[in-house]
Amino acid sequence: MSADAIPFEQWLRTTVERTVSVLDEFLPVDDEVPARLHQAMRYAVLGPGKRVRAALVYAAGEAGLQPGASATAQKLGLDHAAAAVEIIHAYSLAHDDLPCMDNDDLRRGRPTLHRQFDEATAMLAGDALQPLAFDLLAQMPIAPALTVQAVQLLARSSGSLGMAGGQAIDCGSVGQVLLPDELQQMHRMKTGAMLEASVLLGGIVAGAGSACREGLEAYAAAVGLAFQVVDDILDVTSDTATLGKTAGKDAASDKPTYVSVMGLDGSRALLASLREQAHEAVRPLGPAACRLGEVADFIVGRDR
Ligand code: IPE
Ligand code: IPE
Ligand code: MG
Ligand code: MG
Ligand code: MG
Repeated sequence: MSADAIPFEQWLRTTVERTVSVLDEFLPVDDEVPARLHQAMRYAVLGPGKRVRAALVYAAGEAGLQPGASATAQKLGLDHAAAAVEIIHAYSLAHDDLPCMDNDDLRRGRPTLHRQFDEATAMLAGDALQPLAFDLLAQMPIAPALTVQAVQLLARSSGSLGMAGGQAIDCGSVGQVLLPDELQQMHRMKTGAMLEASVLLGGIVAGAGSACREGLEAYAAAVGLAFQVVDDILDVTSDTATLGKTAGKDAASDKPTYVSVMGLDGSRALLASLREQAHEAVRPLGPAACRLGEVADFIVGRDR
């Protein structure tokens, strides 16, 4: 039966709980020296995030699972991969919020990391979280060749041609009018790359074959971009209490976004087409990919 017939909300709740529990287990304990750094790492990672990237890892793992594969090894591998992407994401948020970048005071409904601790600690927590993510991938109980693929994928997705590069473009775009193609490239890099990596890591850990991987790639490209389009829309249409971060910040900071370039209606039309692309991409993968379709709907329909 597809996706075990567990309703999506229940699956997502269980997945979020599992993710938080593995993150809690994998992070250094907060009284280990240097305690303040470890406390900051835990604060950055364990705050109430949506865990969308982890959900993508698990859903893609479900879609790509090969008959006869060890379910236990796969589950452990997916736990490591889900924790790794959430840890890179948490580091990227900590640095994104710094005064030298977006200068934000609120994240996940709480003071940002540098507000709760201090700027040096926020930088160092990010510095330390990044290698921890790779350490977790290196420990996956899967074929070594697949581990190498996973490590390379995460490195490239988070590096200068992925997330960090996109953030550099973002920093250099304040006050600029971007062409739609330039905006798309920035969003695909700063946000899309890590969502794509989440999907593809799930496929790699599951040992997905090439046809499945092709479907996952097309799906991942669509949801990766869609995620940041929604983020841009919510910055305008939602409020600080719902978002857990300061609403209206993009316009206040003169950032080019989908809303500033295409307007709200244009952004929503693009979103509808990306959602359709995501569904089409995984349709050939059959019932095992049902969760991925539901996660795409969640990404597009979320209110925070
Ligand atoms: C926020 O990501 C930053 C972007 C890449 C747009 P999320 O909206 O996934 O943040 P959390 O993890 O739920 O806090
Ligand atoms: C952040 O984009 C992207 C990364 C952290 C890589 P935003 O700057 O739009 O994210 P928020 O709105 O602060 O969460
Ligand atoms: Mg930013
Ligand atoms: Mg920001
Ligand atoms: Mg934003």
